[in-house]
Amino acid sequence: MKDLFDKIYKDKGPLGKWAEQAEGYFVFPKLEGPISNRMKFRGKEVITWSINDYLGLANHPDVRKVDAEAAAEYGSAYPMGARMMSGHTDLHEKLQDELASFVNKQAAYLLNFGYQGMVSTIDALVSKQDVIVYDVDAHACIIDGVRLHLGQRFTYKHNDMESIEKNLQRATKIAEQTGGGILLISEGVFGMRGEQGKLKEIVELKKKYNFRLFVDDAHGFGTLGKTGAGAGEEQGVQDEIDVYFATFAKSLASTGAFIAADKEIIDYLKYNLRSQMFAKSLQMQLVVGALKRLEMLRTMPELKEKLWENVNALQNGLKDRGFDIGTTQSCVTPVYLKGSIPEAMALVKDLRENHGVFCSIVVYPVIPKGLILLRMIPTATHTLQDVEDTLDAFSAIRERLENGTYKRLSASVTAAMSNK
Ligand SMILES: Cc1ncc(COP(=O)(O)O)c(C=O)c1O
Repeated sequence: MKDLFDKIYKDKGPLGKWAEQAEGYFVFPKLEGPISNRMKFRGKEVITWSINDYLGLANHPDVRKVDAEAAAEYGSAYPMGARMMSGHTDLHEKLQDELASFVNKQAAYLLNFGYQGMVSTIDALVSKQDVIVYDVDAHACIIDGVRLHLGQRFTYKHNDMESIEKNLQRATKIAEQTGGGILLISEGVFGMRGEQGKLKEIVELKKKYNFRLFVDDAHGFGTLGKTGAGAGEEQGVQDEIDVYFATFAKSLASTGAFIAADKEIIDYLKYNLRSQMFAKSLQMQLVVGALKRLEMLRTMPELKEKLWENVNALQNGLKDRGFDIGTTQSCVTPVYLKGSIPEAMALVKDLRENHGVFCSIVVYPVIPKGLILLRMIPTATHTLQDVEDTLDAFSAIRERLENGTYKRLSASVTAAMSNK
């Protein structure tokens, strides 16, 4: 019989196998210093385009003050126990009420982490007879939630209305046989390429098909819509979203998340969300901190305005210089270049070392072979100078990519990889 660990000794997994070349640089990099538009990487200042601090709240003095005061008052233990048992407080309820009102829903419920909360919400919403229909590019937490489902599930082609409708037809047939219902899951904003989910068109399909819509709006919350209520508000269909989800990990620059829906649905979830029933309550420091951040979202529209000034400057600047930024409809700013993985590594190194620009890099298998995706997240803390410097850096690296510099530089990387 095999030792359970044999496979681990032999194969570190699709990403882990690159650890030797990539760790500390391309993966698990250490960004140091206060969270802001410019941080330090390996001792050098870099313009930081890889953190989701959209509204610049992470290091805002008012936020830091409230966080510190809450930590001093409550410590990091309070309250002890799960919400249902002993971890419930007035402030948890207050935050839920304020979140619900902000996203225009009857009620909300807090989740300790977006990822686990999403998995658990999907699990609680469906039973074996039900059918799930979801976007093939869905975030890992949606995929994991769907994995728990004991009934049928169908993926549709990314944001493709024809495929959505075809799968709704298949789902309807099955649900009619099993006596179940249909849950359609989309993201408000797809975090890699920045497209919004086609919520308006999906909602139109409610006239023809009987389904409930669940939207993960991690990147839309705080950044889209007139008041910042997200992709549903932006597209004018917030009321038609049956269950709305957002995390505190992006616009609110913290930890935690929430779901919002009709009161009867939230009342049900409150008693059936295993990730919350069997886990310690969200700590007070985070609850008090989220209340402050939400107040700032409501009362300081200038944060979102500054964010969008930077988004527009960056995206228009890239387009003007002939870069392919795909079909983004949000702050998420992808730049697509053509090249191999070793070329991508040499290019990113050049960007970081010689141009002081730090952004995330995405390659095959997340995107098709031969493409390099540099992903940037503008925030309200960036300046127009940051944008200009970055545009110049991008023009320089494109030239070197096209004249073969990175191909030559990457020869050593390729040799190291072929020994793997
Ligand atoms: C689309 C999406 N959903 C869910 C999550 C998970 O949220 P959290 O970081 O709160 O676990 C993320 C990442 O933060 C995300 O990008």
